[in-house]
Amino acid sequence: MTDDEPRPVGVTRKTLLRAAVVVPAAPLLLAGVPALARTPSGQPLTATPQSCDDDLTPPQLEGPYFKPGSPLRTSMLDGTGTRLTLTGYVVGLACQPIAGVLLDFWQADNAGAYDNVGNRFRGHQLTDAQGRFTLTTIVPGLYPGRTRHIHVKAQAPGRPILTTQLYFPNEPRNSTDTLYDPALLMTVGSAGQATFDFVLNVPGVPSSPSPTPTTPPSPTPPGGSTWRPGVAYAVGAQVTYGGAAYVCQIAHTSLPGWEPPNTPALWRRR
Ligand SMILES: [Fe+2]
Repeated sequence: MTDDEPRPVGVTRKTLLRAAVVVPAAPLLLAGVPALARTPSGQPLTATPQSCDDDLTPPQLEGPYFKPGSPLRTSMLDGTGTRLTLTGYVVGLACQPIAGVLLDFWQADNAGAYDNVGNRFRGHQLTDAQGRFTLTTIVPGLYPGRTRHIHVKAQAPGRPILTTQLYFPNEPRNSTDTLYDPALLMTVGSAGQATFDFVLNVPGVPSSPSPTPTTPPSPTPPGGSTWRPGVAYAVGAQVTYGGAAYVCQIAHTSLPGWEPPNTPALWRRR
């Protein structure tokens, strides 16, 4: 299908993107939305969009409650609330899946409060080799002045950080929240299953995702060692790079392109 051909009613460019990207897992991830994976004639979609430029995920305000150093985890379940499982892909401008994207989520708890001392409902993770992520959490509570939302920072290796927020459909406050953007709506189905695909400003060609490093991580070197890829850095680890000294803010295993000057979410200059 090209841009000039009519699309099925209700099928946006983004859903076509998703249908193209998620072929291996479509039966599970697209449960409840079967129409998105079919053409009007009922034939399975086979076209792959050549560009995802139009679906570039827009930035949003960070807000006052971000803090660095969230734990590495895919589940933020902690306390009461309605369980929510958010899955999706991170792709670039050519709709290519991007492996190793740092996704740092934070949100309010069931009562609409942020944990500004500890790390409840804060966590970061990396997309897998197919550009996929899964976050297990709860539906965030409401707090004054805002509609329901989840904050997130997304950073592909060696690229700038995208800070944005994700929204829930059918929320009464969506119509009055001045930050609300329908381009950031998750698809939320029954049983607390939600999906959202990020499109980052990362050039590329539609192809297989970059291979993940095969070198096993080695322990964090003593403070002051030169930064290098393939190392499991802990919070507080100290490295040098390009003649400058840095302190690790978020535990992670380094990848090519994640040099400290390129990843301010991971490294603070001393
Ligand atoms: Fe917020």
